[in-house]
Parts: sequence; structure tokens; C-alpha cells
Amino acid sequence: MSNLIIIGAQWGDEGKGKIVDLLSPDISLIVRFQGGNNAGHTVIVGGKKYILHLIPSGILHPDKICAIGNGVVLDPAVFLEEIEALEAQGIDMSPGRLKISYKTHLIMPYHKVLDRAREESKTDDKIGTTGRGIGPCYEDKAIRIGVRACDLADLDLLRKKVARALPEKNTLLFNCYGRQPLTVEDVMKEMEPIAERLVPYLADVSTVIDDCLKSKGRIMFEGAQGLHLDVDHGTYPFVTSSNTSSGNASVGAGIAPSKLGRVVGIVKAYTTRVGSGPFPTELNDATGKYMQTKGAEFGSTTGRTRRCGWLDLALLRETVRLCGVTEIALTKLDVLSGLSELLVCTSYEYEGRNILYPPQMENGLSHVSPIYEKLHGWAEDIENMKSYDQLPKAARDYIARIEEAAGVPVTIVSVGPAREQTIMR
Ligand code: GDP
Ligand code: IMO
Ligand code: MG
Repeated sequence: MSNLIIIGAQWGDEGKGKIVDLLSPDISLIVRFQGGNNAGHTVIVGGKKYILHLIPSGILHPDKICAIGNGVVLDPAVFLEEIEALEAQGIDMSPGRLKISYKTHLIMPYHKVLDRAREESKTDDKIGTTGRGIGPCYEDKAIRIGVRACDLADLDLLRKKVARALPEKNTLLFNCYGRQPLTVEDVMKEMEPIAERLVPYLADVSTVIDDCLKSKGRIMFEGAQGLHLDVDHGTYPFVTSSNTSSGNASVGAGIAPSKLGRVVGIVKAYTTRVGSGPFPTELNDATGKYMQTKGAEFGSTTGRTRRCGWLDLALLRETVRLCGVTEIALTKLDVLSGLSELLVCTSYEYEGRNILYPPQMENGLSHVSPIYEKLHGWAEDIENMKSYDQLPKAARDYIARIEEAAGVPVTIVSVGPAREQTIMR
């Protein structure tokens, strides 16, 4: 049995949290490898809802170890809040089962202020960032002035790094965005009490992974966002600031690519997007509203309404190609029940040509017209169906069309948010 990488195949919120939780029983270690608390992964167990922003979605299984890899950007205050909330619900959150890589970069107070100030200063080109400081933190990592989790164990070094970073941040904050500058004391006052509580969680995550492999344990790498929000391969500049593709599981967790394993693409049965950016199959009509209402399409992190539209097989084909998806978990199929006709986008018309993949020019996806294929819908409610054969023929045909376009099998069909509302094939 191989390791698993879970990635979002669209623009995030595909239901990764549910599937990670579902697949956790056969896994020893679950590792987040990129993104930060811009993510919101929902897990529903026994009627109770948990929204995980930083902590891997396997945490509800008491015998599993969870880790936050070096590729994540971690807001220490949010991490501690999340721990407290889960502990209050009786979940063991001790360092024995939860690890943070020494090398994980920290989201600092100035990253959050800067993220929001930048976005607010924009007029017509807002990204729709969650404002959690994700971009500015990755930026500091790349220009080599980042603060890392290991620095929390050396407060003198932490102070030195903050003092080195602040003059430039303050110039930006004050001169470009008219914000109040921060002092080293402001920042340290916030970080010092956090440091003490966070240090016990520090670990060499790459070695934890290696030890797990040596003892024949299986690892699941939990992606955040979706491939089309990838900073390189997504709809740039309307993307997040990390690589969301499966390849980053290697760098972001600290494991050789040859040891990664299978790639499960999480595909919502239709498409949603939060924030700005091109969305060829978007529906600004009653059908879009139907998906939004029936699918409860409101962001798990910011509460924003998610834009909704038909399934885009051209986007999916690109995800399969770039991420090496070996199988698909199809989610929220139940939301489509009651629509008499379903459209799927099979290719695009672009500059007079028919193309099978998104165009590569910046914002190319804003200039395509989707070519649709019509499929039959079904009227039956499917949320309590337990086997593939029980599904209406039209639902099975819909799944078969996805498999044909993607060239990989749909091995999991999710028909509701709860663990038990899942058909394994
Ligand atoms: P993630 O970010 O990919 O983990 O997805 P989110 O948790 O942000 O959004 C997915 C939402 O859909 C959550 O509210 C889930 O509880 C819910 N969900 C997951 N699978 C299904 C499903 O098959 N059917 C329905 N109706 N809801 C689902
Ligand atoms: P999960 O893991 C959906 C979107 C934001 C915005 C863009 C950049 O729950 O699927 P950022 O805060 O990264 O600077 O925002 O990316 N975005 C997400 N959309 N699901 C997510 O995560 C997202 N994380 C970021 O809405 O458009
Ligand atoms: Mg989400």
C-alpha cells in the first residue's frame, strides 16, 4: 500500500477535509505541506462540525500522528487557538501526536497588516485574498528575511530578525499604505508568550516521515487550496502564493519525490471559486443559485459566498496532467440531484480555435468560451445511497463521462458531508 497525496483539483473547497478524514484509518501520519490558514477544511463526525485551518484533517482519529511541514506558513496565534478549540472538544492535542517542522515559516503580525493594506489599496484588481498574511510571509521566505518556527526557541535571534525586518515593513506600511508602523516591542509582546507554548511542538518532520516509512507506516500528504490556485500553474495573478500541486508534497514535507505515492484528486461535481479571477463555466443564474444554496457554498474561512458553475473538464484534464492524479474522489454529487439537465465543459473556444487545456497567456481563461456537452440529470435524492449500483443511471453516466475525460477512475463518490455518506468503489 502506498502513500497518498490529496490535492484539490479545482479552485479549492472541493471537500479535501472530508476525504482526508475518511482515508485516515489506513494511514499512520498525515502531513500538511503548503498554504496556511487561508485553508478551511471541514470534517463532520457524529453530527459535529470541525473546520481545520492549519491542523491536518486526520487529527480526529486518536491514534494518528499529524504534522505541519516546512512548506506551510503558520500563524502561531491561529495554531494555538485551533489547538484550544479542539482540546475543548476532548481531542488529544499533545506534542506526542502533533508536530511542527523547525523550518516552517511563521506569519508575523506585520504580514497580516501588509496583506490587508495591499488588498485594500487596490481598486479594480483585487485578488480576493483571505487577508491572513499568506503572500507576505512567502515573500519574506523567498527574500530570506523570514522568521521560522525554530526561531521561537531562541528569543534573541527572533528579536534580531524582527528588528531587521521591521524598518522595511514600516516604510511600506506607513509610506505606501498610510498604516501605523509597528515597533519591535509590539511584535515581541505578541510573540513571546506564544513562543513558550509552541516550542514543545517543534520536530524534525522530515525525519518523522522517514521513520514512519522505515516502520512500514503509510503517510498521507494533505494539500490545501486547489491546482488552479497554484502560484505557477494557476490563473495567475488570481492565485495563492504557494505551489498547490502534488509535486510540492516532496519539497513542502521533506520527502524524496520517488517515495511520494498515489495522487488522489478531489473533484467537486460542479465548480466553485472564492475571490476574483476567471471562471469560464460560472453561472450567474438560477442554476448557480441552486448549487450555492443546496451546496451551502459559503467559505469555511471567510464566510464569503462562493461563485458556482458547471463542471469544467478542461481544467480537470490540466490538473490530472500536472499532478499525476491516479484516482478521483468525486464530492457533492448529491447537490446536483433535481437538475433535469447537466452541462459539462469539455474544451474551450479560444481565438477561433478549439483547445483542450487552459490557454497559457495571462488571464487567457477570461477570453475563452466554454464548449459544453449536455448530460441527463436525475431527480432522486442520493444522499443515503450506499452503493454505486444504487445510484440513478444518469448519475453513473455523469461519473463515467468524468472518468473518460480525466483518463483515471473515480474511486470514491461522496453524496453528503458526513463520513458515512460515501460510496467506495
Ligand atoms: P476543503 O477546503 O476542500 O476541505 O472543502 P471545504 O470544507 O472548504 O468545503 C466543502 C464543504 O462541502 C464542507 O462544508 C463539507 O462539509 C461539504 N461536503 C463535503 N463533501 C460533501 C458532499 O459530498 N456533499 C455535500 N452536500 N457536502 C459535502
Ligand atoms: P482550501 O484549502 C478556496 C483563494 C482566496 C483568494 C486567493 C488568494 O479551503 O481549499 P490568499 O489568502 O491565499 O492570498 O488568497 O486564493 N483561496 C482559497 N479559495 N479555498 C481555499 O483553501 C483557499 N485559499 C485561498 O479566496 O482568491
Ligand atoms: Mg475550504
